[in-house]
Order: sequence, then structure tokens, then C-alpha cells
Amino acid sequence: MKKLLRDHAVGEAVDCICLLAAVQAKKTRKDKPYLRFEFGDAGGRVPGVMWEGFDEQLAGLPPGEVVRVLGRMDQWEDRPQLAVQSIHLPPPGSYQPTDLLPSSERNLEQMLGELDRIVESIKFAPLRKLLGGMFAHGDFRNSFSRAPAAKRWHQPYLGGLLEHTLNVHYHALNMAGRYPQVELDMVSAGALVHDIGKTVEYNVEDFFNSSTRGRLLGHLVIGVEILDSWIRKVEDFPEEAGWHLKHVILSHHGHYEFGSPVVPRTLEALIVHFADDLDAKINGVLRIYQRESRDPGDWTSYVRLMEREFFKSRVLPGGETAGESPPAGPPEAKPGRTRPAEEQPDFFDNGDDERNREGFPQ
Ligand SMILES: [Fe+2]
Ligand SMILES: [Fe+2]
Repeated sequence: MKKLLRDHAVGEAVDCICLLAAVQAKKTRKDKPYLRFEFGDAGGRVPGVMWEGFDEQLAGLPPGEVVRVLGRMDQWEDRPQLAVQSIHLPPPGSYQPTDLLPSSERNLEQMLGELDRIVESIKFAPLRKLLGGMFAHGDFRNSFSRAPAAKRWHQPYLGGLLEHTLNVHYHALNMAGRYPQVELDMVSAGALVHDIGKTVEYNVEDFFNSSTRGRLLGHLVIGVEILDSWIRKVEDFPEEAGWHLKHVILSHHGHYEFGSPVVPRTLEALIVHFADDLDAKINGVLRIYQRESRDPGDWTSYVRLMEREFFKSRVLPGGETAGESPPAGPPEAKPGRTRPAEEQPDFFDNGDDERNREGFPQ
């Protein structure tokens, strides 16, 4: 099996076929031009930098381009960074971009089976009909199965959205089951649709970068648009049930400052919000555990998104070091109130360069 970018030790030579996730021409404060990159393969994203010997046209390569990159694994602020010596384009058609993308470790067919069983378990017929039609539809089912849950922080891989959705449903239903006053069908349906906008928000082919529609509208608004188009196909779908389901989508980030235009105003929406936040954070931390499992010490590095380090050693006998998921790039967030786990700044658009030595990404 081909060696992944993340498996190269610092100082080791690199010769990899990977996807170009991002590239940008930059200048140091002393006006020295350089290129910075993000490369991606089945192991996730790895940043790179090229100091010399480059053609500036490289900066015009589109994200999603398959490239052969040669260089050496280096380090920047304790994290791996590829020092690029040269970049070539392999012969067209010699690699399928999607073969180079990371995938969920869960079996796709099993996850889809779980999704279908949840839909079948919904008792309120119009809701069951709505979701049954949507998730069984070929194009939607395909894009929902492939989409990542996020670009880098949680479940950023093929099948990640489906995996995250099932986890959110699991957490939400467990919470709701304690309270007979809560409408379980609405919790189920809300959990399943809360992130459907991500089928449009991320471009799978260019390593999950945000699409234009995603950047302009965001997955909450796109989710409501998608849901509305399916509600219209169900004859006599109860209007208030449609409002409630749209409310779950629009409020699932929990706070105005985290991108929700309305805060959760029903118990069902509140439960989906907490279930969503919980699964995103657990997955994000598990990925850091996995990435840093071989690092010495009891603590992870500082997780800026959650403003703390995590204790990574097991204290009970018989346990292994936590983490089974593929690794991710480091989470990025500014100090202040803890962000919702989904709200991850982009690699190249965080506007933070002035604060970083020579314009390096944080
Ligand atoms: Fe979301
Ligand atoms: Fe979510």
C-alpha cells in the first residue's frame, strides 16, 4: 500500500501522489515569494511550503488537481509540514481523484441500512414519507453518502456526513427517550436532516473545499431549501411539521453568533443541537488522540477550538491509547467563547497572516 503523507517522519524524503487541496502565492515580510499548500490523501490534509525553484503558475492550479509531490517532511510549530522540492502532474487519468480521498472506517452499506431503518421507524406517516422519498432518491442518496461532515475538524472524509448524522440521531434519541413530553419522531427526523445542506456545501472532488453556493448561503439555509423542495413533493404535508423541521435545521448551531438565525425554541431542536455539538466534539478530540497517539506525555497539544488540552492516557487497566479514526489537520479557532465544533475557519481565509511569522497558517 502506498505510504500516506501523514506516515512520513520528520526529515524523511517524500514522493507521493496526492490531491492539491489549496495553494496560494505568498510573500514573507522581507518580500521573498513562496508558495504554501495543503495536500491531501487518504490520510487527511498536510500543509506544505515551497521556498524556491517554483513557477508562479503553480499557484493557479485548481484545488482537486492530482499531483506528484517530491520533498521532505519538515515541521512547523510542532506539526508536520511538507517542504516541497518539486511538483509534477501525473499523466491524465492515471489516478482517480476520489481514490485519494479519505473515507469513513464504517461500512457504507451498513450505515445506509441503519439510516433506512430509522426512517422506517418514524411513526408519523407524512414525516416517514418525506424522509423515505428523500433518502431513497438516487442522486440525493449518493451525495448524502459521499459528503464529509466538515472540511477538517470532525468526520472530514467520504461518508463522514452519514456517519455523523447516525451518531447525532443516536445521541438525540437517547436524550429524548428520558422525556415523554418530547416528540420522538421530530427528534429522529430533525437529526437526520439537520446537516443535509452539507451535500452542497462541500465539493467532494477538490478535497472538501467549500462550494460557491456553500460559501454564499451556508449549509443551514441550503438545508432548508433542500427540505422545502422535498416537502412540496408530499401531498398535504402538515405545514406546522414543516416549520418545526426547518426550525431544527436553522437552530442546530445553537446561537446567533455561531451562524444560527434562530436559537432552538423547541425541546426537539434543543436536543438535536446538543447531540450535534457532542458528536462533532467527540469525533474531533478522538482524531487528535489518534494523531498524537505516538507523541510522548499524558496530554494532547492545545486544542484551540475547545480552548484546552485533553488528557490522553488511560487510567484503567486493559485500555489502549484512545483513537481509531484517521488523523486530521490541527483545529483552528480564535480565543474567546468556545465555538461550535462545526464552525471551522478556512485554511486560507482566516485573515490571520499578520499574526503569524512570515504568513504561515496557524
Ligand atoms: Fe451543521
Ligand atoms: Fe451536524
